[in-house]
Amino acid sequence: MAASLRGTSLTSCSSSLSSDTDDDGVRGTCEDASLCKRFAVSIGYWHDPYIQHFVRLSKERKAPEINRGYFARVHGVSQLIKAFLQKTECRCQILNLGAGMDTTFWKLKDENLLPSKYFEVDFPTIVTRKIHNIKSKPPLSKPIVELHSEDSLKIDGHMLDSKRYAIIGADLRDLPELEEKLKKCQMNIHLPTLLIAECVLIYMTPEQSANLLKWAANSFETAMFINYEQVNMDDRFGQIMIENLRRRQCDLAGVEMCKSLASQKERLLSNGWETASAVDMMELYSRLPRSEMGRIESLEFLDEMELLEQLMQHYCLCWATKGGNELGLKEITY
Ligand SMILES: C[S@@+](CC[C@H](N)C(=O)[O-])C[C@H]1O[C@@H](n2cnc3c(N)ncnc32)[C@H](O)[C@@H]1O
Repeated sequence: MAASLRGTSLTSCSSSLSSDTDDDGVRGTCEDASLCKRFAVSIGYWHDPYIQHFVRLSKERKAPEINRGYFARVHGVSQLIKAFLQKTECRCQILNLGAGMDTTFWKLKDENLLPSKYFEVDFPTIVTRKIHNIKSKPPLSKPIVELHSEDSLKIDGHMLDSKRYAIIGADLRDLPELEEKLKKCQMNIHLPTLLIAECVLIYMTPEQSANLLKWAANSFETAMFINYEQVNMDDRFGQIMIENLRRRQCDLAGVEMCKSLASQKERLLSNGWETASAVDMMELYSRLPRSEMGRIESLEFLDEMELLEQLMQHYCLCWATKGGNELGLKEITY
């Protein structure tokens, strides 16, 4: 069992949010997630020429089950994003909540799949770091400048606003502040909107995540929410994960909502969303296209399949919709 917790860092997700010191633990998970993504990219799990500009390559090798876990996570989230973009023909906006060093904006631009506007939100200190990287690395700044027809690109320490991309420093638990900042960056409540929370809600108390989900459902006429995080946390594996993270000053404040796929769906349905679906990551992994599975499994030898299964059964991908019948949003599935 202890060996199975080689997988704990797949999460990079955790923490209680009651004081500023606790928030440091949460902010630290941004580094964990980007290091793991960069490592998996470096050995060929997926293509991402941008992550290298945000984080150094880890000296420490990540375990194969972690790399496969990240592959499934990135693949699953990306499939849902593309389904939403296809249904809305890209006439939509995306809000990536707790985006950290996520590179989806640049990858969508390369695939000619950008929404009308792509917003990212994270704590101000994380945003400051991201903006610094964007400003100092031409492969990151060029695509933003290219898309920006006027000469009013706005950048200050905690905020960047351009025609198609905005990055905002804000606390997701302070909804009036969040809304005000998004509106300043021309968020349009009438556009179909996709909200993404990848390993983020678990850092919030159940009340705080419920408020965020309610705010999202009430703010937009047509919307979809993607949530990736832990599930089945009531068992021994879950307990060890909680303890390991607590030792790193990270409490899983929202773990109560991660009991089961049913509790994950129920949270969405009881906070204003009309449909909710959820799949655990082992199920998602087993549904990967054969060719992709064959390709990634040939990258590294995994000694015990059980390690992968245990880990993947403790993560899930959930999605919910509101409105959008005419677009077919409710048909979106993994
Ligand atoms: C585990 S990282 C995931 C980053 C990114 N979503 C990914 O998957 O690569 C969690 C991110 O959520 C952010 N976050 C957590 N709680 C937040 C809050 N209350 N307000 C703003 N950002 C928050 C953290 O700063 C961190 O960047």
